[in-house]
Amino acid sequence: MENFNQIESTILDKIEKISDRNTFDTAKTEIFGKKGIVTELFKKIGSLDQNYKKEYASKLNSLKTKITEILEKKLNDLGQSEINKKLKNEKVDVTLPGRSYYSGKIHPVSQVIDEVTSIFSEIGFSVEEGPDIENEYYNFSALNTPKDHPARDMHDTFYLDQSKDLLLRTHTSPVQIRTMLKSKPPFKIIAPGRTYRCDSDQTHSPMFHQLEGLHIDKNINMGHLKGCLYYFVKKFFEVEKVKIRFRPSHFPFTEPSAEVDIGYKIENGKIKVGEGDKWLEVLGCGMVHPNVLKNAKVNPNKYQGYAFGVGLDRLAMLKYGINDLRAFFESDIRWLEFYGFDPLDVPTNYRGLSR
Ligand code: DAH
Repeated sequence: MENFNQIESTILDKIEKISDRNTFDTAKTEIFGKKGIVTELFKKIGSLDQNYKKEYASKLNSLKTKITEILEKKLNDLGQSEINKKLKNEKVDVTLPGRSYYSGKIHPVSQVIDEVTSIFSEIGFSVEEGPDIENEYYNFSALNTPKDHPARDMHDTFYLDQSKDLLLRTHTSPVQIRTMLKSKPPFKIIAPGRTYRCDSDQTHSPMFHQLEGLHIDKNINMGHLKGCLYYFVKKFFEVEKVKIRFRPSHFPFTEPSAEVDIGYKIENGKIKVGEGDKWLEVLGCGMVHPNVLKNAKVNPNKYQGYAFGVGLDRLAMLKYGINDLRAFFESDIRWLEFYGFDPLDVPTNYRGLSR
């Protein structure tokens, strides 16, 4: 029979010498590891004489329990002493100023796209998207603007190849065609997105944003168009009453066509939308031309409807009093910090940010 007392004191000696995590792990392996002292003793049980077996096993089990408890306690003590050591060495200087965090801001154009999308979705419009790189057909021809049409000159187009087939879309109107071609009427969609024209000054940037609207069904008329735009302008500018003017205009893809102005005045140096006797052009619209419907495989004798195109950057400038469009795209972080919006999901205990 093994001398369990002796074995126990050898093990306790080992445990005595433990001074940190490393020596703890080594000692534990030496005792309970694959070839550890206790493990080896267990391996022997099978070959023992029947007379000894019971006593041996019971002594071994109590040894195992005792050592396991001692090791657990040791581990606990080690944890404590490590924390104490850390507390002693790593002092926290509570007089240091707090660290400030900087959160990103939502760009006014993104904000306006969100607002506009939610306003139109409340009255049943869904969102469509189209590619920034278009071909000549979708951008012009299918929209009833053939090669020699003077309206093409108004869109200073960025062409991407010699054949003048690929281009950066000059408006979001091609999304009308793409939408109609891919399914069947009725259609009630908006399409926000980037558009491009070779133009740059205080109110024009080579890249800008538009929102296209298209509503095609049986018996849709100009009254629906007016109702829809009234609703939109009131909701967007958050005003009860709004003065709107439909001015006859021309677009090749609509007949009749109109441009929409809204009334405004300047009060204390700030623009007030919806009242006053000044007019501001905000969008183009009209009843979709039968040729456009035909090109999009929609029967104009059965279906008709309206379309509109809004300049989103312009809406953002108006609503949020920003007077230079170019700043929108200069990526100046100070500008964004001033004109940008806080994300809606800011936690309530968040104290805002300073730099
Ligand atoms: N595509 C026109 C532009 O960029 C805007 C426009 C006018 C869109 C009338 C329309 C519309 O859908 O019906 O100037």
